[in-house]
Amino acid sequence: MTPAAETRGRTRGQAEARTAAFRVLQDVRSGAHADRSAAEHLQALDDRERSLARELAYGVLRLRGRLDAELARHVDRPLEELDPGVLDWLRLGLYQCRETRIPEHAAVNETVEGAGRTEGRHVTGLVNAVLRSALRAGEADPPPLDEDPVARLTGWGSHPEWLVRRWLDRWPAGTVESLVEVDNRPPAVTGRVLDGDEDGVESARRALEGTGVEIRPLDEWSGGFRLVEGDPGELLRRVPRAVIQDPASFSVVDFVGREPRPPVADLCAAPGTKCVGLAARREAGSLQVCGDSDRARLEAVGRAGGRAGADVRLVAADARRPALRPASVGTLLLDVPCTGTGTLRRRPGLRWRQGPDRLRSLVRLQEEILEGAAPLVESGGLLVYSTCSLEPEENEEQVERFLERHPEFRREEPEDGSDLPPGVVDDRGDLRVLPWSRGTDGSYAARLRRADRTG
Ligand SMILES: C[S@@+](CC[C@H](N)C(=O)[O-])C[C@H]1O[C@@H](n2cnc3c(N)ncnc32)[C@H](O)[C@@H]1O
Repeated sequence: MTPAAETRGRTRGQAEARTAAFRVLQDVRSGAHADRSAAEHLQALDDRERSLARELAYGVLRLRGRLDAELARHVDRPLEELDPGVLDWLRLGLYQCRETRIPEHAAVNETVEGAGRTEGRHVTGLVNAVLRSALRAGEADPPPLDEDPVARLTGWGSHPEWLVRRWLDRWPAGTVESLVEVDNRPPAVTGRVLDGDEDGVESARRALEGTGVEIRPLDEWSGGFRLVEGDPGELLRRVPRAVIQDPASFSVVDFVGREPRPPVADLCAAPGTKCVGLAARREAGSLQVCGDSDRARLEAVGRAGGRAGADVRLVAADARRPALRPASVGTLLLDVPCTGTGTLRRRPGLRWRQGPDRLRSLVRLQEEILEGAAPLVESGGLLVYSTCSLEPEENEEQVERFLERHPEFRREEPEDGSDLPPGVVDDRGDLRVLPWSRGTDGSYAARLRRADRTG
């Protein structure tokens, strides 16, 4: 291929990547999950274009608040009055100018072209004028944190106002700023070797030598690693006893304990990362039930279990009405559906889909799951309640209300010598992994022991 033909091919590929990113934003606007939409629209692109499209779509979703704060200064009406497709193209164009190395003239021209293709030629003048006005003016400094924390953290910090306000009521402004910074950075790929310790990571590292995949141990997190080079799929093929998982998530498995009392049940199990981690610790031959109300997601649990050699029984069931005998479970994990405010960096569209109403309805669902599933725990058995939320209503307040209703349960601290790093267990004995303190996701868990009536 001649250099000119190659350049033309690349330009066409980049145009396809921008359009694919736009399609993802369009789907997310209609309520779709970014990952599912990306899987559909990015599939046909080659590797380079796919990574550009992913960066543009996910970057715009993460920094939407920041981009909108800047765009609002260059549009002569409230942004909500713009056609939503035009607004998404403006965000895509500005993101390329501010956050990537794409030359500004190319970013603007290609955005104008893209908007013309999907929204009609009549919008190109507006898109061109707004982007050029923003470039002429340059980026404005965000308001200082001590003068207007809400404006800074919603604009530059790119988080919805209701969340910023509730976090500012709870934590110092500097802490909230660190949290939004973590949320705005794409996470590294991390995981764990199921056989546990540093030796497990070392043998995985050796098994990967010469494959183009490189991992490094994660300080503080037993068995944890960071993918430095290569493809996660290839890593899992070469090291079947590994899972891709954030430390905040595998710390919940550590919090359950080294030898969970059998039988073990995990009733909100999909996609299965904790379930597989628990199975690796279970007594040989003992039963582990992995349930979820979402049958399609449950299939992922079966695949993850099969790959890691974990023997699990899958049950598609609503944890509010579990189909298991009362007092038949030794260790019950309830990793309930939640707002996921500890994982916003990982799920870039999520912050814009949440709101106080969704929080309230999830708190109700969590309570119903606790009420429905707690009777399964046998006398002396353990219920571990966990979330990837930072909100007290879903975490300690939910647990306190449960303990008021159920005096037969009491909260307890994790076992001595657990694999948890120092500083992640609070004064009550609950697990609390905070994104700004270790650069991980956030997670919460409580250990609730049922009184032993036989003792
Ligand atoms: C936080 S995710 C679980 C993540 C999983 N434990 C892991 O580590 O891979 C919550 C799960 O609860 C499931 N779920 C939602 N409502 C449920 C219900 N009423 N009963 C059982 N599962 C439910 C969702 O389908 C989702 O898979």
